[in-house]
Amino acid sequence: MKSKTQYVCNECGSISSKFFGKCPSCGKWNTLEEEEIIEQVKKTSLQSAPRIKRDFQTSVSLNKVSYDDKSRLKTGIGEFDRTLGGGIVDGSVVLISGEPGIGKSTLLLQVCGVLSEENKLLYVSGEESMGQIKLRAKRLNIDSENILLMAETDINEIVDEIDTVNPKVVVIDSIQTMYNSNGNTIPGSISQVKNTATELIRIAKTRDIAILIVGHVNKDGAIAGPKVLEHMVDTVLYFEGEKQHSYRMLRAVKNRFGSTNETGVFEMEEDGLCEVDNPSEYLLSQRPSGVSGSCTLCVMEGTRAILAELQALVSTTVYPSPKRVCQGFDYNRLSLLCAVLEKRLGLRFSANDVYVNVVGGLKVDEPASDLACVLALISGLKDKAFDEKTAAIGEIGLLGECRSVSNIEQRIRETKRLGFERIIIPKTNYDKLKIKNTVGLDIIPVKSVFDCLKLFS
Ligand code: TYD
Ligand code: MG
Repeated sequence: MKSKTQYVCNECGSISSKFFGKCPSCGKWNTLEEEEIIEQVKKTSLQSAPRIKRDFQTSVSLNKVSYDDKSRLKTGIGEFDRTLGGGIVDGSVVLISGEPGIGKSTLLLQVCGVLSEENKLLYVSGEESMGQIKLRAKRLNIDSENILLMAETDINEIVDEIDTVNPKVVVIDSIQTMYNSNGNTIPGSISQVKNTATELIRIAKTRDIAILIVGHVNKDGAIAGPKVLEHMVDTVLYFEGEKQHSYRMLRAVKNRFGSTNETGVFEMEEDGLCEVDNPSEYLLSQRPSGVSGSCTLCVMEGTRAILAELQALVSTTVYPSPKRVCQGFDYNRLSLLCAVLEKRLGLRFSANDVYVNVVGGLKVDEPASDLACVLALISGLKDKAFDEKTAAIGEIGLLGECRSVSNIEQRIRETKRLGFERIIIPKTNYDKLKIKNTVGLDIIPVKSVFDCLKLFS
């Protein structure tokens, strides 16, 4: 047996026999990873697999093409269904990725639990033994003869089992542990991940079986294995959250069968994941009152407006360059906002360390949260508490101007619903707002950060 190495790009999956700093195929730097080829086989099973017969070989006019609206399997877990755009589509392949320990296996076992009432399912684990899965199922109160467990990593065995039992849904936990014994690289390598995923997609499409694949995320936040995996599957869901918090968010980043902006919110409890129907209430539940350095923001998560508290601690620095620490907020955005406040309002952030935290583990990446951050920063620096019954929405530009944001009506309505009395919004939004007088909420327009400062006088 001859041992050889090859280099695979973790972005595009292209294979080179030599190492390059820059991938010759996609042009990205430092993406080639070394892989050992265990043995040389002439043909992989994929190459020898018969070609899938297509329905038609020639081109057809668009107006003559018919399609059947694929049925969706409702899982009964509302937040999961909403993220998928209304349930699992027959024959679709869904990738659920997230950091280890975030709760992917728990979520999928719970999904199986509900689906098993009417469907036969196959849960394949390459990470845990049957005993471990049983233990988790017991904790989650799941017991069904319709859930077939399999602790296996060889994709050929799995395909045989799918053929035999013909399940409605298959769970593969995780793709990184799977390998093709006919392949010539080690399990977990990029080629193997690609190879096994191709095989699974082929099965899903030819048999109309939905396959849910777990994919681990590496420390950079990318799915370990080539980015191609994301291109290959129909839907990509990210399962996120801070491990210290029980709050978890399921986010659709790609969806061939629905909107990509949908999110589902869960809470990890002793007996599994619970749906959170009212995330804002949950996130604001422990807000202290009368303390400086806090402001409520409102972000859009998919089609839903969510309110959360943003806290800013501003303290005199002892370092040559002041510290900026963020949790749930973008670091560069914070640096920018501090610089804008320093330049436009003369507030000495360069002499202060700043710590910003979005309470509850929510990650906000929408510029609409700038205004709340600015208000919390000013409140923190001046040590003057900001009114707790007031929320703020708006993007701040480099000149200190407050720019308009989308979905303003929806955000205002959600703020009202949660019992707030006032909301601060960009002047440009205010001018066009139709519900100003009818919504029953004090609406304060701001043009720039100068107006923000006035709110504290
Ligand atoms: P798990 O689903 O194994 O994570 P992943 O598959 O993403 O690696 O979940 C891991 C964590 O969830 C673990 O630290 C324990 C916790 N947990 C609960 O808090 N409650 C529960 O009911 C279960 C099953 C797990
Ligand atoms: Mg797991």
